[in-house]
Amino acid sequence: MNILVIGDVCGSIGCETVLKVLPSLKKELNVDFTLINGENSADGNGISPTSAEVLLKCADVITGGNHTLRRPDFHAALDENERLLRPDNLENARYGSGYCLVDMGRIKVAVINLLGTIYLEHLKASNPFLAADKLIERAKNDGANVILVDFHAEATSEKRAMGFYLDGKVSCMFGTHTHVQTADLQILDGGTAYMTDLGMTGPITSVLGVEPSIIIDRLKNGSQEKFRLAEGKCSLEGAFITVDDKSGKATSIKTIRIV
Ligand SMILES: [Fe+2]
Ligand SMILES: [Fe+2]
Repeated sequence: MNILVIGDVCGSIGCETVLKVLPSLKKELNVDFTLINGENSADGNGISPTSAEVLLKCADVITGGNHTLRRPDFHAALDENERLLRPDNLENARYGSGYCLVDMGRIKVAVINLLGTIYLEHLKASNPFLAADKLIERAKNDGANVILVDFHAEATSEKRAMGFYLDGKVSCMFGTHTHVQTADLQILDGGTAYMTDLGMTGPITSVLGVEPSIIIDRLKNGSQEKFRLAEGKCSLEGAFITVDDKSGKATSIKTIRIV
């Protein structure tokens, strides 16, 4: 099967890019299953019922990250729609989960969403490796043929370690959160497609989506100006993966970057 995974969508400008680019891209690549990380898809941070609704027009599952629980008006949606995920290992999270199973008839796809712990200590997430073990077992018990893992993490070391840990156990593990697309795509020895970070879908002239002058002022002068999404031309970034339906092993992974 053909799978498209899209990196962190930034604000309404990113959502508009998804709506503009994804329908024709999915047709062109003959995509069977689409996953989008939507944790930053609302303007001003987080994900809202409105931005999730927009992304669900183009995706089968929306994954989250450290900002997913930020808006109280999104909490109910997490409980109501099992295709809206937040990292499963977030401790004390009272809404939603980081696992869903999509039954496509011939194929069942399980999606797992986890949070890294390095440089994200303040979020109080439990051990993502142990959480992965538990959820993979659940996916197997659910009869999943294909398992996808979105590991939302800051440190490249933690993401690569997780990739090797999951090799042979899942079809694909990719990282999100750092918003900069990495060039280390590979099929690991056990048949797991891997990429450290998918990149982002949002304004190109930005620091991870934010207006550069604000970040420069903060880093240089200690300014506390509120983050504002940058404007201008956007890119849509992610990866295209092909998976053998029977074995659940990946056969290829390619970079997606559309400007
Ligand atoms: Fe993000
Ligand atoms: Fe994030």
